[in-house]
Amino acid sequence: MELTIRNTSFHVEDRGTGAPILFVHGFPLDHTMWDAQLNAFADRYRVIAPDLRGFGMSTGAREQSEMEDYANDLHEILDALSITEPVTLCGLSMGGYIAWQFARKYPERLGRLIVCDTKATADTEPTRANRLELAERVMKEGPEYFVDGMLPKLFADATLETNSTLVDQTRNVIIRTNPQAIAAAALGMAARPDMTATLSDIAVPTLVICGAEDQITTAQDMKKLAVQIPNAQYEVIMGAGHMSPLEKPAAVNEIISNFLAATDI
Ligand code: MLT
Repeated sequence: MELTIRNTSFHVEDRGTGAPILFVHGFPLDHTMWDAQLNAFADRYRVIAPDLRGFGMSTGAREQSEMEDYANDLHEILDALSITEPVTLCGLSMGGYIAWQFARKYPERLGRLIVCDTKATADTEPTRANRLELAERVMKEGPEYFVDGMLPKLFADATLETNSTLVDQTRNVIIRTNPQAIAAAALGMAARPDMTATLSDIAVPTLVICGAEDQITTAQDMKKLAVQIPNAQYEVIMGAGHMSPLEKPAAVNEIISNFLAATDI
């Protein structure tokens, strides 16, 4: 469905009934990265997966979008869907950066947290410099200039070798993404604060998932992150890289399913 909120049209997948799960995609992707989870959970839960501002089929790309801005958009999307009960928020990578902001600003709207392949630290200087360059170049050259360099960092070697359908689908999503949305998010990620000190305030049941071969957010770093969240379960997905829910949907879905069954909001 399309939801119009103050002149911005948000594309939002909204299926099923039951306790709401809000899926927040990574960079520079869209809601389709969660297809395997939407299909697996829509029979028991209300699954909601928006395209973030400017991404996918959503409009409203800005010059720079802070992680907090995306969290505010999510809050407004939930209001527009009349979802006032606490949700399970499931975010991957940039979706995780947004989740920390949502947890900080809207704790009353958060019932459970699932973070995949993400970090709470701010960017290092070299990463920040790369983002500024990307934001500038993508506006002139489009996503094509970086997509083929990015794909090998997103997936485990086995995925790259044996699952060309998934890799091609992801490539297509990236090259169709509005350059302005990519630039806005890159600048927003470069400016994002270190959220490590807020992890100990997260009071809801939390599941931390990481692909064993994730090069962007390593399993070792995510384990350290999980230890700092008071009520967190940490799981490593063998044979997966940064895109663990896409690369190993059955394993990830089983872990999420068990987590949801074992935790009450
Ligand atoms: C993502 O998957 O969202 C990106 O890897 C985030 C990032 O570039 O830090």
